[in-house]
Amino acid sequence: MLLSFLLPAFFLSASAAPSLNSRHHGHEHRIVQRLPSNEWFHPRDHPVHRLFRRDADTDGISYAQVGSSTWAAPYPSSTPDVSQLPAAWTDALNAAVQAGIIPNIPQSTSPTPDTNPVYPDGYDPTGPDVCSGTYKCRIPGNIWDAPDGFLGTGFDDGPTTASPALLDFLEANNETVTHFMIGVNIIDQPDSFTRSVELGHDIAVHTWTHPYMTTLSNEDVLAQLGWTMQLIHNSTGGRLPKFWRPPYGDTDVRVNAIAKEVFGMETILWNQDTEDWSLTETGGTTAQAINASMTTWLTGSKTPGLIILEHELSDESVQAFEAAYPVMKSNGWNLQSVAQLAAGGQSAYQNAISIDAGSVTPADIILGDALTTLSVSSTTTSLPSSTSSSFSSRTTS
Ligand SMILES: *[C@@H]1O[C@H](CO)[C@@H](O)[C@H](O)[C@H]1NC(C)=O
Ligand SMILES: *[C@@H]1O[C@H](CO)[C@@H](O)[C@H](O)[C@H]1NC(C)=O
Ligand SMILES: *[C@@H]1O[C@H](CO)[C@@H](O)[C@H](O)[C@H]1NC(C)=O
Ligand SMILES: [Zn+2]
Repeated sequence: MLLSFLLPAFFLSASAAPSLNSRHHGHEHRIVQRLPSNEWFHPRDHPVHRLFRRDADTDGISYAQVGSSTWAAPYPSSTPDVSQLPAAWTDALNAAVQAGIIPNIPQSTSPTPDTNPVYPDGYDPTGPDVCSGTYKCRIPGNIWDAPDGFLGTGFDDGPTTASPALLDFLEANNETVTHFMIGVNIIDQPDSFTRSVELGHDIAVHTWTHPYMTTLSNEDVLAQLGWTMQLIHNSTGGRLPKFWRPPYGDTDVRVNAIAKEVFGMETILWNQDTEDWSLTETGGTTAQAINASMTTWLTGSKTPGLIILEHELSDESVQAFEAAYPVMKSNGWNLQSVAQLAAGGQSAYQNAISIDAGSVTPADIILGDALTTLSVSSTTTSLPSSTSSSFSSRTTS
């Protein structure tokens, strides 16, 4: 599987929080959520609509059954081949490049495996022209912090064989969270994918095969995001995620612009890192170390709120969350799915009110608002200077 791709990254916190909203359980206490006026959402046609549907009372399109061979067949089995990209995607990318809204900066390179990507001389990763997430530069609009008092919950790298235990725990505690999912893992673990959806969790994009995104060409970035988005779309009755999280936090102004301008997605990072991915690695972190870090964060300042990087990657990483959960609650943190915090109380999807209720506004993945955004938006040009000049080197196991 993908364990060999999974390497650490280190990020810190600072400022700026999105607006907040109240707890949402996905059931009878649903708060009214609205999408922006230019979005695709149509009001849901049933008062309670717990499970996602793929039939006529949602978007009228029938999709292949999740988990079937028909469902999996059209997707890349590993790193996508850019010669197989749908023309509509490359057309949209090319239009965005032509419009000057995809910054023309070089790809980074990783001269040594498992080290932070580097840029050619003259390109400062902490400066506004590059603004690399790996170097803790914050691109305006990217989400790094939760609102004061909130703990934005989310888990990366699923679905995996550790997901069932996490889902059991969350269900028992009435929590819904964001799952930043890897495309090939969804293909591999369709039952946990479907169960996450049916429990009302928010599904977000964590790329197709978990690369350092800034090392990729525009077309490879397009493929990593597009196939994952297409798979989630076709497996949730047509819902399109509004958010993605770059593996290792590795994004920059170019990658960010492709996600935003072509696919309409915003980026969610984090402000504390458990390094729980390394629990199962020789020389990796330990449950005791995570306990100590969690205790510090959870008993510390609530300004800004917390977005803690956690993984549904191993039984051990799930157990680290389970151990910390009572401490999150006893310290008065307001837990909420990080995608819903980032959406400022609106939906985690671009075209539906939630994963488990309401109708989906049918739209092609490219046509619709993504293209509208493409023609009008140029938000990636003025960036503040980096929020941090220091750079933590990796401590890979
Ligand atoms: C997604 O679903 C649509 C509608 O059924 C279908 O036309 C399309 O081929 C599907 N895409 C993939 C990659 O399976
Ligand atoms: C979860 O919600 C249900 C229904 O409201 C309630 O019966 C149950 O006690 C809740 N469980 C927890 C752990 O809060
Ligand atoms: C840390 O471990 C202690 C002892 O098992 C436990 O009481 C405490 O709740 C744990 N805290 C966290 C944040 O995991
Ligand atoms: Zn990851």
